[in-house]
Amino acid sequence: MFEVRDLVVKYDGIPVLKGINLEVRRGEIVTLLGPNGSGKSTLIKAIFNLVEEKEGKILFFEEDITHLPPYEIVRKGISIVPEGRRVFVNLTVEENLKMGGFFNDPNYEELLADVYYTFPRLKEKKDEYAGNLSGGEQQMLAIGRAMMSDPILMVLDEPSLGLAPKILIEVFNGLLKISERRQISMLLIEQNAQIGIRFADYIYILDHGKIVLEGLPEDLVLNPEVKRKYFGM
Ligand SMILES: Nc1ncnc2c1ncn2[C@@H]1O[C@H](COP(=O)(O)OP(=O)(O)OP(=O)(O)O)[C@@H](O)[C@H]1O
Ligand SMILES: [Mg+2]
Repeated sequence: MFEVRDLVVKYDGIPVLKGINLEVRRGEIVTLLGPNGSGKSTLIKAIFNLVEEKEGKILFFEEDITHLPPYEIVRKGISIVPEGRRVFVNLTVEENLKMGGFFNDPNYEELLADVYYTFPRLKEKKDEYAGNLSGGEQQMLAIGRAMMSDPILMVLDEPSLGLAPKILIEVFNGLLKISERRQISMLLIEQNAQIGIRFADYIYILDHGKIVLEGLPEDLVLNPEVKRKYFGM
């Protein structure tokens, strides 16, 4: 359904992604794990066509979307939950959600109800300014906003970052609920191996701009060397 083929991204001529290949199938949660500076956010920028020097192909339902403008990519059914959440702090929760949808979308009410069903906390706080929410609630809001464009694939940049364990589980249970109920596929970019493995159907490990390992979570955790080197277990 979604494929990245031989993706190379350079900053000022220096390659940061060096030939990435990956695939996300319908309804799957695919986790891409990688340490600091390995190129995770660059991959997301490249998917949304926000980098200048790029080679390779990005395919969505076999259509080449490599060079579409970001807005068109969202239109096609790919939405983003950006690094650091980036909610609009001076807007209310509901106004933020509205920003994620398309103008005059006939499904607006249904999507909104679904976001509130997934994250009841957001409903309770729908008229509060997003700036007054806790980090976990802002993350829920960022995910909710990404749901409002009715995506087929959601790309998430380190949603676990800076969250306390309890709220983290709440956020990820919400993600799982969405993925199952709406058949939304997820490309989950994470540094937190524990949480990444727990929710994944398939795992890629990115290191220094290359995929160094991939496989089913159960196969990867069986390998003691992989466990030690990449999962810190
Ligand atoms: N706009 C830019 N110009 C030049 N170099 C950049 C730019 N953005 C990122 N880089 C470099 O590219 C490499 C990959 O950065 P990237 O942000 O993709 O990593 P990351 O895996 O998301 O890291 P983090 O875990 O810190 O979020 C890093 O060495 C970074 O310094
Ligand atoms: Mg990053």
